[in-house]
Amino acid sequence: MNNGSQVVVITGAAQGIGRSIATRFHRSSAKLALLDMDIKPFQEWIKELGRDVLLVKCNVTNRLEVEAARDQILAHFGRIDVLINNAGIGKSPHHLEEVKEEDWRQVLDVNLTGVFLCTQVFGTSMLDRGGAIVNISSMSGLIPSPLRGAYSASKAGVLMLTAQTALAWGRRKVRANAVCPGIIETTMATRNYKGPGSRQARIDLVPSGRLGTPEDVANVVFFLASPESEYINGEFIRVDGGFTLTTMLQYSNI
Ligand SMILES: NC(=O)c1ccc[n+]([C@@H]2O[C@H](COP(=O)([O-])OP(=O)(O)OC[C@H]3O[C@@H](n4cnc5c(N)ncnc54)[C@H](O)[C@@H]3O)[C@@H](O)[C@H]2O)c1
Repeated sequence: MNNGSQVVVITGAAQGIGRSIATRFHRSSAKLALLDMDIKPFQEWIKELGRDVLLVKCNVTNRLEVEAARDQILAHFGRIDVLINNAGIGKSPHHLEEVKEEDWRQVLDVNLTGVFLCTQVFGTSMLDRGGAIVNISSMSGLIPSPLRGAYSASKAGVLMLTAQTALAWGRRKVRANAVCPGIIETTMATRNYKGPGSRQARIDLVPSGRLGTPEDVANVVFFLASPESEYINGEFIRVDGGFTLTTMLQYSNI
């Protein structure tokens, strides 16, 4: 099956990376089920998208809402072929000793438990029929992110859940892979660098010489959901312009 005839479920699709992923699939004529807890940003955009798009208000941390979304999608499109677990949140930076338990729980709830719930609820409907899951982790899931312990822990958890899903469901025709974006210019990232020179300081850290765009991530997600990547299963792909390669640079002059 090519991407054009797929029924694709995307969580956190109202803005940022999720929206770019939706746009990428829409270009190839896929049928889209776009989920978000805040569907206001969809209202104008949905008119542009027009055909074959179902909007569903859904908080990925709430099992009943996720199950209701699945029922609505199956009633509308008849099947699900691809699940993109993209919904995620970050919190303002804190030293580990100052992280509020409430914030820790919320980040883990959305970024990890949300992926688990959607994988279980939507993924089950793909078992034995075939499908692909792409989870949006982060470079912070591969290396600890300073002052963002909960976020890093949640995204590392997503990578293990991805591997677990690939292992458990490979023989039942469902693949699972993850993408680890670097700094991608969306609301989530740009609110961290409002100070003068702060954006440039980040660019200076990226070997590719620029920050990432949501489209950079969407293109890789699209590939991982397509038949061209059929034999890739349980893989983590960095989309960070080489950022995570620079970890040892600070030692090069010692
Ligand atoms: N922007 C980056 O630099 C960056 C880097 C690495 C990974 N990521 C990851 O990419 C994904 C998308 O990030 P983004 O930058 O586009 O963020 P964003 O804040 O621009 O968009 C996130 C979307 O998820 C939705 N959402 C949040 N909680 C939800 C919930 N409980 N249920 C349903 N929807 C929910 C929001 O309403 C929003 O529309 C996230 O998982 C994020 O952790 C982003």
